[in-house]
Amino acid sequence: MPHLRIDILSAVPQIFESVLSTSIISRAVKKEVCEIHVHNLHDYALDRFKHIDDTPFGGGAGMILQCQPVFDCIEKLKAERAYDDVIFLTPDGEVLQQEMVNQFSIAQNLILLCGHYKGIDQRIRDVLVTKEISIGDYVLSGGELPACVLVDSIVRIIPGAISDAESALEDSFQDDLLGAPHYTRPAVYRDIEVPKVLLSGNHAHIKQWRQEQCIKKTKTRRPDLYQKYLNNR
Ligand code: ADE
Repeated sequence: MPHLRIDILSAVPQIFESVLSTSIISRAVKKEVCEIHVHNLHDYALDRFKHIDDTPFGGGAGMILQCQPVFDCIEKLKAERAYDDVIFLTPDGEVLQQEMVNQFSIAQNLILLCGHYKGIDQRIRDVLVTKEISIGDYVLSGGELPACVLVDSIVRIIPGAISDAESALEDSFQDDLLGAPHYTRPAVYRDIEVPKVLLSGNHAHIKQWRQEQCIKKTKTRRPDLYQKYLNNR
């Protein structure tokens, strides 16, 4: 059984409680497909007020996460096991794509570092961080929600995490195409009919129809993705 360990470092670990205790992630943890450990950076503070941030050198607004708690926490973890990557969630990182998610899902140990201030000391990024990831071109108030997004995207495709093994492979983006439309009972709802082909029982026709729908949708909604699909065919 594949097994992924994810260590999340955060100054606001409470944010993860509900996400990790419900959702597909908690099911994967219960099935021992993965384990997730959240570390409170305040636990690594050295002063009795548990400070882990300070004002920026050179002036400016906001507080900066200091080196020491992050170095101490990551070095402790690295002394226990080898990590494939130390990922920093940041809006100036590389924008997350399904291909990157697929790569992370076959890792053994990952560290996710969440910033929650104006920024983090650049030396952390220079020395410890191996990948910087953004979940899109907009700014959130911290790296915790992006970390949840990343963990969910990774964990759900680990074999054994979801009961329907084929389901993850049929996702939008897995073949550079958006997903096909879905329908369920009843076949007619408020005079709106389900496409006849889906009721035909002819699996070859259904497969072809779904493929056509995926292509049509991708072409109109995401011409950039459609071009990628054509190039990779
Ligand atoms: N932290 C704040 N905004 C972010 C974003 N868009 N992606 C990743 N981390 C972030």
